[in-house]
Amino acid sequence: MFDKATLGRFESLQTPFYYYDLSLLKETLEKYTKQIKKYGYHAHYALKANADERILGIIKDAGLGADCVSGNEVALALKLGFAPEKIVYAGVGKSDAEIITALKGDIFAFNCESIPEIEVINGLAASLGKVARISLRINPDIDAHTHKYISTGRAQDKFGISQWMFDSVLETINKSANIKLIGLHFHVGSQITDLSVFKLLCERIDVLQKWFTDKGVKIENLNLGGGLGIDYSDPDTAPIADFEGYFNIIAKNLKVSPGQKIHFEPGRAIVAQCGSLISRVLYVKMGKGKKFAILDAGMNDLIRPALYQASHKLQNITSSGRVLKYDVVGPICESSDRFGKNIAMPLTRRGDFVAIRSAGAYGQVMGMRYNQKDLAPQYYSE
Ligand SMILES: Cc1ncc(COP(=O)(O)O)c(C=O)c1O
Repeated sequence: MFDKATLGRFESLQTPFYYYDLSLLKETLEKYTKQIKKYGYHAHYALKANADERILGIIKDAGLGADCVSGNEVALALKLGFAPEKIVYAGVGKSDAEIITALKGDIFAFNCESIPEIEVINGLAASLGKVARISLRINPDIDAHTHKYISTGRAQDKFGISQWMFDSVLETINKSANIKLIGLHFHVGSQITDLSVFKLLCERIDVLQKWFTDKGVKIENLNLGGGLGIDYSDPDTAPIADFEGYFNIIAKNLKVSPGQKIHFEPGRAIVAQCGSLISRVLYVKMGKGKKFAILDAGMNDLIRPALYQASHKLQNITSSGRVLKYDVVGPICESSDRFGKNIAMPLTRRGDFVAIRSAGAYGQVMGMRYNQKDLAPQYYSE
């Protein structure tokens, strides 16, 4: 990923920065859309994973729609030319202003997460003289076998509507003249690498959707959300997620009724591997029985390790000296500002470049100015 010319280019740049390999992004999208077309599915890219405008342009040009979780994401998707009929909008806490943005934008569907939300959308749609299309985000009570902070489909999670509420939800919809129910939505978590979770999801969807069809409610759309994981430990051997295996499992296990449309909301699996956070080593400091490699990039630039105990491959891309062990940390005044413990890296010195790999998803978008640090800018391979 980092050839001589790329490293030469890095020399003139102020670190830390995000570096995006756009050819890998395009290759990933090609493989993804090939599967989507094969099965006649619909895809809405989850902007929350990475909302860089150049990246979004490439994703839009590949034919994907947009999955948004805020009014500003909806506005950005519309501004960049994503077709309104390909935009979906989820989130447990949509504000009135955000709902109005989406209603005025005539998006495809709100993925609704509660009865009070449906009531508010109904009222706002009525005041604008519109009918809001909604899908119900269902909480299927499935453990996605991923980090607890990115599990979203268990009964105790704040997301979605549980089965015991279905009667009241349907009652609310039936008395809401400005709401049209068009489908069911599911998203059970992120960085899911155990593909059997998706088989289980398909089985649960079948049971849950039957509840509605038994009541005479036609489910025109099923949205299975995102969640497919990537290989953080070895981003080079298989940089593109196993889309074929994933869609094969879905196609085999999901019961689809005639005319029903199937939707997905991939985020991480599209953008994670094309991005790296490039930093320089500020100091190598001796600790008790260890060496710290202190980078100029910190948790303010990439919070995943501090937030979810996530681990990214750390690569000294300057040195080729003998391999030693380092605790790789950032400059922020928090002990959780650490990218890895006991990391094997070639002899590391002040000024070396360290690449934090697989940082294209939930990296730059979560950047913050804690300690009044500057936000890391981005550069592209093209
Ligand atoms: C509703 C919704 N859809 C899709 C995604 C994208 O998930 P992922 O990046 O794991 O594919 C998320 C992220 O958690 C989400 O909250």
